[in-house]
Amino acid sequence: MKSELKLSPVDLVIFGAAGDLTWRKLIPAIYALFLSGSLPDQFSVFGVDGKPMPADDWRKRLRNGIDQFSRYGKADPAKWKEFATHLIDCASGDFENVETFKSLAKSLEERDRDAGEPVQHVFYLATPPSVVHSIVENLGKAELTKDPERSRLVFEKPFGHDLESAHAINQFLLQSLDESQIYRIDHFLGKETVQNILAFRFANAMFEPIWDRRYIDHVQITVAEQVGVEHRGKYYEQAGAARDMIQNHLMQILSLIAMEAPAAFSADEIRARKVDVLRAVRPIPPEDVHQHAARGQYATGWLEGQHVPAYRDEPDVDPASDTETFAALKLSIDNWRWQDVPFYMRTGKRMAQGLSKAIIQFRPVPHRSFPATVSLDWQPNCLEIQIQPEEGINLCFQAKQPGVVMRLSSQQMQFRYREAFKTDPPEAYETLLLDVMLGDATLFMRADQVECAWKVIDPVLEAWEASKPTDFPNYPSGSWGPESAEGLIARDGRSWL
Ligand code: BG6
Repeated sequence: MKSELKLSPVDLVIFGAAGDLTWRKLIPAIYALFLSGSLPDQFSVFGVDGKPMPADDWRKRLRNGIDQFSRYGKADPAKWKEFATHLIDCASGDFENVETFKSLAKSLEERDRDAGEPVQHVFYLATPPSVVHSIVENLGKAELTKDPERSRLVFEKPFGHDLESAHAINQFLLQSLDESQIYRIDHFLGKETVQNILAFRFANAMFEPIWDRRYIDHVQITVAEQVGVEHRGKYYEQAGAARDMIQNHLMQILSLIAMEAPAAFSADEIRARKVDVLRAVRPIPPEDVHQHAARGQYATGWLEGQHVPAYRDEPDVDPASDTETFAALKLSIDNWRWQDVPFYMRTGKRMAQGLSKAIIQFRPVPHRSFPATVSLDWQPNCLEIQIQPEEGINLCFQAKQPGVVMRLSSQQMQFRYREAFKTDPPEAYETLLLDVMLGDATLFMRADQVECAWKVIDPVLEAWEASKPTDFPNYPSGSWGPESAEGLIARDGRSWL
């Protein structure tokens, strides 16, 4: 999260350069940074992939990715021509063979010589987790990661499968790398509104004094997707909604909403305050998991006029799968600020609407001076932080309805990013890639954050593993999830907003 841009020459090496992530997300983001003039003049992309791909075919594929996924639309021919000169080569190489890395080291050395000054190296692992070990080990053997000042490594999730495996991965990485070199991506942290939670809370004087248990009744975090599991059945079968979304994205949103004010706007300070929150989350006792968590799996159904298949009929999914595509949790945070304020979170695929938001529900007024007839639908105030589809903030309050008699009505003050700033927010990957190049780790997950988040959800996963669901599939595609999720919040006399 930079406050100013000053980049030294950078070589970005993408492992998995012929893969989906590179094509869909990374190159369109780098192209956008190039168009906005955010990259240094001396900037190169090297690709490495297990699959051989001649450089021209690789570039063609990347251009196609830009045409399809860039927020600027199809690549402009002149701009593309200039951009393509930075896409050096896609070397084919076995990630398990140290020679792949030695020859990469040679190419990078040549570039250093031409540049006449040390070039920053960013190694992006856009690969399946199964090859991460070999890549890190071989980068070390080829002496490409020995200088923490010069080399950074970017990792995509999953960061483990549970606390134990996450801890083992972190231990492995820390054998050859310094934590300051490790950038664990959670792309939600690159989204503008997610970052704006910090600005909203800590750059304004009026919200923080009421941001606690005295004024807040509860918090809801919803990340609902209309898409199903798409072509990712193989991965998703091993993950499920709790691992795929709650352990990372939703926990990060929770931390930003619940954290204490940082003393300084620095990566370590902000990350430390977020970890404090995760550490304070009350562990869910195994015998109470059914009271604090709900799970679901989508059945066939209708979405926007289209008939869509059940999860169990998706490609690469076991027809008797127990994997959850919906998960909801109720968490409590044991500290002074949040005692007795529940945090409800839910996420699911094939939901009625695609939307992500956090809602801060304030307590009702302490005394209702108006007679009941004046306020038929009197609602306590609430603040909605909308992350998707439109980024913005809504503040709900009571207003007098126009007319000769006194009547109250619930209204909203709305802030919309697009309208306010007359510009499209950058894609999350643009922000995050630039931060890696700048060496700013604020928006990346530190080892302890990852482990603390696993500590929170491990008991739920273990209880679910021990008692298989008997009612799957239990929500139709195009709905708001299973009944048990309604029960989870209704037990406290509340409802999803
Ligand atoms: C990813 C999950 O991390 O986030 C996907 O693996 C999910 O399952 C995606 O669809 C959602 O991200 P976004 O940016 O599309 O809301």
